[in-house]
Amino acid sequence: MDKNIVIHPHKVSRLDREKIKKQMGCVLWFTGLSGSGKSTIANEVEYKLNQLSFHTYLLDGDNIRHDLNKDLGFSEEDRSENIRRIAEVSKLFVDAGIIVLTAFISPFIKDREQAKDIVGKERFIEIFVDTPFEECAKRDPKGLYKKALNGEIKNFTGLDSPYEAPVSPDIHIKTLDENINESVEKVINYLKEKGFLNV
Ligand code: ADX
Repeated sequence: MDKNIVIHPHKVSRLDREKIKKQMGCVLWFTGLSGSGKSTIANEVEYKLNQLSFHTYLLDGDNIRHDLNKDLGFSEEDRSENIRRIAEVSKLFVDAGIIVLTAFISPFIKDREQAKDIVGKERFIEIFVDTPFEECAKRDPKGLYKKALNGEIKNFTGLDSPYEAPVSPDIHIKTLDENINESVEKVINYLKEKGFLNV
């Protein structure tokens, strides 16, 4: 950091912001293959939280790559930088007392660990959207698996770029074994049980 940059203490703290929102700021970090269902589930969780009058914000891979991170591609380096920036943005939202939902492949354990460090481990909830490669390729909602399998897309996650699954995620969603309502309930119940809601 430049030595001439001085961080100002703020009069209003995260706690003050959280108190009027009756919630604790946190990040619901969805990770999983492309087409695994991250965005769909995150959208439904946000909808449910909004219906319950909680304050949320959803950061989504495809959207963020259109603006904030439009300079980044899919090399290992660029994906790391993608995740680092998302984590920094999430940290600001958490400081504002918001429940943030992020939906990024975030394929590398080291990048998710760094994101957890940036946000703070008490506020970081890792959610593994566990859908096998074959199923994602079958669903292929954007037609990208077809292209990647034809060799038209390089560095495609699960094909010629690795996906490192979480070893002990806070929430494990197996989309082949549970329906969307069950997955949404799982996340909402987790937030309730851990005391993030109605504080
Ligand atoms: S991440 O790896 O850096 O976390 P991110 O979630 O932002 O990825 O973007 C993934 C989305 O970009 C995919 O859902 C897909 O729509 C698109 N995409 C384009 N090229 C690739 C690629 N080579 N590998 C994976 N996803 C890709």
